[in-house]
Amino acid sequence: MELLAPAKVNLSLKILGKRSDGFHELETLMVPISLADKLVLAKTEGHGVGFSCDDSSLPCDSRNLAVRAAELFARHTGLDIGVRIFLEKRIPHGAGLGGGSSDAAAVLLGLNQLFEAALDISTLAELAAQIGSDVPFFVHRSAAICRGRGEVVAPMVLPEKLPLLLIKPSFGVATPWAYQRWSTSLEIPGVPYGPQKFGWGELFNDLERPVFEKHFVLADLKRWLLEQNEVAGALMSGSGSTSFALLKGGDLAEALEHKVRQRFGDDFWTAYVVTTLF
Ligand code: C5P
Repeated sequence: MELLAPAKVNLSLKILGKRSDGFHELETLMVPISLADKLVLAKTEGHGVGFSCDDSSLPCDSRNLAVRAAELFARHTGLDIGVRIFLEKRIPHGAGLGGGSSDAAAVLLGLNQLFEAALDISTLAELAAQIGSDVPFFVHRSAAICRGRGEVVAPMVLPEKLPLLLIKPSFGVATPWAYQRWSTSLEIPGVPYGPQKFGWGELFNDLERPVFEKHFVLADLKRWLLEQNEVAGALMSGSGSTSFALLKGGDLAEALEHKVRQRFGDDFWTAYVVTTLF
């Protein structure tokens, strides 16, 4: 069985406050995008979960969310599953694109089908929430407003397919660090943090404040992107380090990509994507 695990971007992310369990209360608009990892799931004669990946920098044990998802599925259903999982990694990690969370959700959805367990979406979403805050969003496979710590998912229809250029520097950002620094971080004068309004909603991210303070190049990138005539809006996704430019048209992606490389160097990763339902 072959599955696609799409990445996401956060079009908006508001932090409403810190909770007593250490997490932060959120209201975030997340959308799946056309960049995706590929997973191959195959039943085996033996028992247990075998996992391999084409990216040797990723752990293959239960530190990997995809492995954790398979183990949780087996525990919850009580099925003595034998399965081999192969992951073709296309989504960069430490990037704010939800790659690991999406892989985990795809494993839950895939095993449910492969072993005919007939778990409904709300049960799968409950299992997903035990793996990570973003995983339930990926079980729903739709644009959604996510609340709570991210696990309360209200699917919605985004009226437009948005053309985006993803831009990521060579470093990543650790999500716990970004949240931890949020309450004490300050805005950098001259950097635009305010909401950018569009017909479908607004671009806004509360985590830009702590991340820009540490990684000034991301603040500089956003300010610069907003000055380019191909760009209708610009924002960091999740806790970074990926930012995206909302393009005035998909045909402008290549020109902007070229300018990004000239201004910020070849070590910046870029990818043209569109928002999608999958
Ligand atoms: O849920 P997940 O494991 O993806 O979260 C990673 C870390 O990000 C958490 O341990 C926490 O430090 C932080 N976080 C948070 N509030 C959220 C989501 C994540 O503080 N709503």
